[in-house]
Amino acid sequence: MTKVIQVNPDHPEVQAIEQAAAIIGQGGLVAFPTETVYGLGADAMNEPAVRRIFEAKGRPTDNPLIIHISNREMLDLVAADLSDQAEALIDRYWPGPLTLVLKRRTAVASSVSAGLPTVAVRMPGNPIALALIGAAETPIAAPSANRSGRPSPTTAAHVRLDLEGRIAMILDGGATRIGIESTVLDLTGGVPVILRPGWITKEQIAAVVGAIEPAASLAELQRSPGTRYRHYSPRARVLLIEHGATASVEQICKEHLKTATVGFIGHTPLAIDDARFQAMILQAKAADYASKIYSALREMDERGASLIIIEGILDAGEGAAVMDRLRRAASETLRE
Ligand code: TXA
Ligand code: MG
Repeated sequence: MTKVIQVNPDHPEVQAIEQAAAIIGQGGLVAFPTETVYGLGADAMNEPAVRRIFEAKGRPTDNPLIIHISNREMLDLVAADLSDQAEALIDRYWPGPLTLVLKRRTAVASSVSAGLPTVAVRMPGNPIALALIGAAETPIAAPSANRSGRPSPTTAAHVRLDLEGRIAMILDGGATRIGIESTVLDLTGGVPVILRPGWITKEQIAAVVGAIEPAASLAELQRSPGTRYRHYSPRARVLLIEHGATASVEQICKEHLKTATVGFIGHTPLAIDDARFQAMILQAKAADYASKIYSALREMDERGASLIIIEGILDAGEGAAVMDRLRRAASETLRE
């Protein structure tokens, strides 16, 4: 049985936080909200505890985890040799959705890093997450709290659907604010490299550190094993219509309705009257897409869509992170 406790997202109740911290202290698993998505946490310094995360998620053990900390001192337990660039980024963007890949300290449970000499760390901008880490008095390793390959969870209900019975507790702090995962930035080479785009944009990072690698090359992506796996996938097939494609969204939906039950997620209101068609209309803005896209994918699955057609947005600023996730979820992409 998984215990679910409601927690006030602005003023987390001490009793709930202490119960969750006690589970972490005993090597157990607790799902908790961050400002991006829900995380599945365990004590990052406890090897058997960290292994339980991989088991509960069904996650390949060569895909390393992000460590979450609640203050600057905790960083020195897990990472070493911070550059001036790292310090400047920390000053500017923590707490917040920026994960830094740094040189690892050996006290970290080895499976957190999946054998790499590096460690990914961030300080989440969410009062429940910070209170839990503080009360547990240890850095917490936490991947997104979904079964491996499924869309990341943005509500406690999503976590429950994926992990009920596999984890001890869920702290329910309501829907997460941002909705897609943090930016992952590798600072262990000469020039910083974005391994995963996220809510902190490349422009925001460049404003602090100067030059960054514009997009991770294939060789660099090998350094972020997570980017090799298929991700964020609903059960239905996903067709992505890129922003700028000239084809009519309405025509594409009508064409596919001949052979499929279509769930449309996009920003163009469509007048299609067909029992096998349903639509979720979003604002054509990165913030609206980010906060709703994962739950929309799950919902279209529940409503029985056999094909999900997604209308993309402009690939710039925060939209770059949204489009990265949509392209990973897509089995087919329409560019023209
Ligand atoms: O917003 C987030 O980052 C959420 C919340 C819960 O904090 N967490 C999250 O974790 O998305 P996860 O495990 O789903 O994604 C972690 C990503 C993966 O792409 C993984 O490969 C990469 O970070 N990563 C972790 N450690 C790494 C390392 N040492 N070197 C390179 N990439 C690393
Ligand atoms: Mg994940």
